[in-house]
Amino acid sequence: MRILFLGDVVGRPGRRAVAALLPALIREHDPALVVANGENAAGGLGMDFKTARQLFDAGVQVLTSGNHVWKIKDFYPTLDTEPRILRPANYPPGAPGRGMGVYAAGGVEVAVINLMGRTFMDDIDCPFRTVDALLDRLDARDTPVPVRLVDIHAEATSEKIALAYHLAGRVSAVLGTHTHVQTNDARILPGGTAALTDAGMCGVRDSALGMDPRAIIERFITGLPKRFTVASGEELVSGVWVDVDPETGRALDVGLVS
Ligand SMILES: [Fe+2]
Ligand SMILES: [Fe+2]
Repeated sequence: MRILFLGDVVGRPGRRAVAALLPALIREHDPALVVANGENAAGGLGMDFKTARQLFDAGVQVLTSGNHVWKIKDFYPTLDTEPRILRPANYPPGAPGRGMGVYAAGGVEVAVINLMGRTFMDDIDCPFRTVDALLDRLDARDTPVPVRLVDIHAEATSEKIALAYHLAGRVSAVLGTHTHVQTNDARILPGGTAALTDAGMCGVRDSALGMDPRAIIERFITGLPKRFTVASGEELVSGVWVDVDPETGRALDVGLVS
């Protein structure tokens, strides 16, 4: 079975790119499950009900997120009530929403786990210990769920790669998000775990992480806060596909979408 995973969707251009390009990707890859990181879907920062629904309408089945998911407070109740939307599991207890879901994908159950790194990011609970506990919960189920996908939303390549090795042989794929820059290291780790440090983004190609570079340049030069705006221009969709043996959960092959 194939799983298609798209990197951070940035603003209206990102949503438009997913709506325009995902149908052809679905025809090409025939995925059992389509997952996308939606943390930047609304105006470049956060997610709301409308943007999430647009992405579901475009063919996304599960939305993961990250540090920006908390930007729009009106969305918090939806995090509690919509099981297809995840936020990083290692936020401390009491945070709205959930960090893991089990989804039906073409007759196979797939567990999706959303985690966030702590290096150069908010100091939340340990992603390594959190995922260990979640895998214990999956292992304790009456019906096993061998197909397991992890979105590690993190800044530091070292932390993402360390987590991938920590999970090697225990999950099907560890796929990175958050930097919006696709890395060229898609591979299968020993034990049959696909790993990619970052899936990239869905948004405007000629941009700084999907945003207009001018305000970002000014902030770097002046050190002053500056309002960022979503870029406009040619749009792209970036991500990764993973082929998984549904019986064992082992990744068989992995490749980039860009
Ligand atoms: Fe992002
Ligand atoms: Fe992020």
